Amino acid sequence: MEDDMPNSLFQQYSRLVYEQCGINLHEGKKALLQARLNKRLRMTGIDSYKEYFKFITSGANPGEFVNFIDSISTNLTYFFREAQHFDFMNRVGLPELIEAKRKQRDVRIRIWSAGCSTGEEPYSLAMCVLAHLQDITKWDFRILATDISTRVLETASRGVYSEEKVKKVPPALRHAYFRKVGGEDGNSDFQIVPHVKRLITFYRLNLKDPYPFKGPFDFIFCRNVMIYFDKKTQEELVNKMAGFLRAGGYFCVGHSESLTGLAHKLSYVQPAIYRN
Ligand SMILES: C[S@@+](CC[C@H](N)C(=O)[O-])C[C@H]1O[C@@H](n2cnc3c(N)ncnc32)[C@H](O)[C@@H]1O
Repeated sequence: MEDDMPNSLFQQYSRLVYEQCGINLHEGKKALLQARLNKRLRMTGIDSYKEYFKFITSGANPGEFVNFIDSISTNLTYFFREAQHFDFMNRVGLPELIEAKRKQRDVRIRIWSAGCSTGEEPYSLAMCVLAHLQDITKWDFRILATDISTRVLETASRGVYSEEKVKKVPPALRHAYFRKVGGEDGNSDFQIVPHVKRLITFYRLNLKDPYPFKGPFDFIFCRNVMIYFDKKTQEELVNKMAGFLRAGGYFCVGHSESLTGLAHKLSYVQPAIYRN
């Protein structure tokens, strides 16, 4: 296995990643890319970065191309991450939405978790909304949860999390929406109950590709995803996603992200929250 990657090859990888998924791999990410690639080289038995590049770009190995994208994406997430968003949903977003829907005799509620990683975000959103809907049978409530990585989507669809991970879930919600199941080494794991799981549709979607649905969504959460994209890609994607938001719908980004400096039609509500 190679120790170092020539800069010209790093540029080729960097361009490929940018063109395919919008992620900006600058020079400082070379060591990270190599570490992630080493694992793929071991798994495939290919012994150089150059050969691996040819292998994934030849068009003959689409499965390994997906594995490559999976290996370079950063998937950190946790339940109820960025409490300010859930606080806003509880205080403003959901009461306002439910009131408006009641007046319009509209029972449809749609949320999109774009870049959902291993599922903690859409499940947290489902639990948050359920607390506001007195009789779920009267509502047509669904969450669409998408990610470019098939690996994280498998975990998300299983909906089974370690005790450590569910510690972030408020106890009342943990009791209501998780069931204990046997985990590894005698530890318990926690499984999302079926009636919450059923509210969510998980599928693979590269945000740079055309979106095969119509919306409109009442809320779009695209948090800690665009941080890896350059300004041009961020601007394109924000405008594209905003086109799937209903009038008055909310768009949430991560608190370390911001739409400042991007041309878009959304109005600023508070840090990391925008409105159509
Ligand atoms: C750091 S996680 C954020 C998860 C969650 N939204 C949160 O805030 O906790 C970023 C996710 O974005 C996904 N991602 C990166 N580029 C993407 C793209 N072009 N299209 C769709 N998802 C992408 C990654 O696979 C990863 O799961």
